[in-house]
Amino acid sequence: MRVNRQKHFAKIPAQACIFPIFVIFLAITIFGSCFRRQSASKPVDKTQRDIILGFSQIGAESAWRNCHSRSVREAAKEAGIQLLFESAEQKQENQIKAIRSFIAYRVDVIAFVPIVADGWDNVLREAKTAGIPVLVTDRKINTEDSDLYSGFIGTDSEQEGREAGRFLLRKFAGVERKRPIRIVELAGTEGASAAVGRAKGFREVLAGNPDFEIVYSESGDFLRSKGYEVMLSVLEKVPRIDAVFSHNDGMTLGMLDAMKERGVKAGKDVVIVTVDAEQAIIDALKAGTVNFVIECNPKTGPDIMELAKKLAAGERIPRLIHVDERVFSEDDKDLDGLAPRGY
Ligand code: AHR
Repeated sequence: MRVNRQKHFAKIPAQACIFPIFVIFLAITIFGSCFRRQSASKPVDKTQRDIILGFSQIGAESAWRNCHSRSVREAAKEAGIQLLFESAEQKQENQIKAIRSFIAYRVDVIAFVPIVADGWDNVLREAKTAGIPVLVTDRKINTEDSDLYSGFIGTDSEQEGREAGRFLLRKFAGVERKRPIRIVELAGTEGASAAVGRAKGFREVLAGNPDFEIVYSESGDFLRSKGYEVMLSVLEKVPRIDAVFSHNDGMTLGMLDAMKERGVKAGKDVVIVTVDAEQAIIDALKAGTVNFVIECNPKTGPDIMELAKKLAAGERIPRLIHVDERVFSEDDKDLDGLAPRGY
């Protein structure tokens, strides 16, 4: 049977036709606007959406470290970078776990402070295979293949050690003596580039000078409590100490407590050289219980964020960036005008 469509449609009332047309029109308008909103916020490339930075910190062993962590957190907030911050409680295996979790999460960039210099190759290879760029910061690493990370930003620990040695050369220059100057070294964490570099630079300057002898060296792990313990036992067993080179202010503050307890006049009987420049040590320099302070700059957060942005955008960064640092000496004319970094 043939159906006359013309006739059939003609029989439907006008109101019944308008309603479905209105519904279809409404649906198209709603879906159309949703689709447009979706495509407007759709990521175009990595630089246009939020960057996720996985950051593995070693812990909270010193005032310096706490200031460093604060600097990273504040700078990430300021830069609009989403920060996944993991603290490793001084354990390399915790850092490796954290880096693996960043890889699994597919962050855009990984940055980490290596507690020690060796033992990173495997996990860095995993990051490279996943295509995630890695920034090493504060402490340096040893790798078989330097392409396993993109670059380093931090302090020049060998230079810090050289500054310490040069100060002692100046301090004892022209002083009449019948025996070599006897130096004790309070070293940082074994295997950490900050400790290895400071020890190396220090020895480099004193090498070949028979007037200076490092008579004792022990690690205090960059901890105030260990600086105190080590110095108590050193004062028992090492006679005639002329100078101490301490690898960080935390250990120095512990050591000063030990010396005070044993009636040793720090800064006078024993020359004290230390690294970091936290406020408590600048105060000790002003009080005359410390003689020379080499700054180690913890406020590298903003630089780290700049580099992270570049890496997320697929750009190359310099292989090695050493941050600005200065020294503070008992010889400075205006000790009150000293401006450390406020921590
Ligand atoms: O790696 C930097 C060193 O680590 C700082 O000198 C010290 O205070 C910190 O714990």
